[in-house]
Amino acid sequence: MRVKFVAGNWKMNGNRASNEALLTDLVPLLAGISGVESVICPPFVYLQQVLSLIGGTKTALGAQDLCQFGNGAYTGGVSAAMLKDSGCSHVIVGHSERRALFGETDALVAEKFAVAREAGLVPVLCVGETLAERESGATEKVVDRQLQAVMQRCGAAALRDAVVAYEPVWAIGTGKTATPEQAQAVHAFIRGRVAAADAAVAAEVRIVYGGSVKAANAEQLFAMADIDGGLIGGAALVAGEFAAICRAAAQKH
Ligand code: PGA
Repeated sequence: MRVKFVAGNWKMNGNRASNEALLTDLVPLLAGISGVESVICPPFVYLQQVLSLIGGTKTALGAQDLCQFGNGAYTGGVSAAMLKDSGCSHVIVGHSERRALFGETDALVAEKFAVAREAGLVPVLCVGETLAERESGATEKVVDRQLQAVMQRCGAAALRDAVVAYEPVWAIGTGKTATPEQAQAVHAFIRGRVAAADAAVAAEVRIVYGGSVKAANAEQLFAMADIDGGLIGGAALVAGEFAAICRAAAQKH
């Protein structure tokens, strides 16, 4: 049985006051929910603040990105070792915003995935197609290319303890959620591609959905056989929404 996984990706949002207000509301709500792994991913500069507010609870700390290099002369970079040292257990790699706006290639994402694992962090690997790619029938080709880059670099076994987030780019922050059936089809495809390399790993890897997940649609999405939770953007900034999404994941057995 795969333990459900829900991560909140705050993206470049928040300030010290709003973070504190959000977590003061959220932490007690999450404390009442069991059977789901929850992770909060704030901007780097707020990792310590968030850790001080969630520390000692079951909720884990994650980063939104990391540098592919180890410590050294890489101005502006934040290494896997620094994230680990700062109390992170998870890190998002290959988010579509990183790919589209910061020019991250499949090879760079695979490298980041590798260094995260080497440091003992759980990578949350984002994959997903744009609207144009979906409309031209290229969804599986694109998702497979993004996935294979990581499997070739790290081996399929590396996915066992990782999380794959299927996030159709057209559904992120747009209010257009993939239907449960659309998402399930891609999740099943991803699990099948992992199974082609290693069936045992495919049975264990958590594949979560991201893209306009809200309390109102989470239950239906998480009811699908291959959807093991969610990567949540906008709704992660609202305590009641995020907690309700975690509750929906916890209810799925
Ligand atoms: P959204 O973002 O929930 O705001 O669509 C999801 C994500 O980008 O991780």
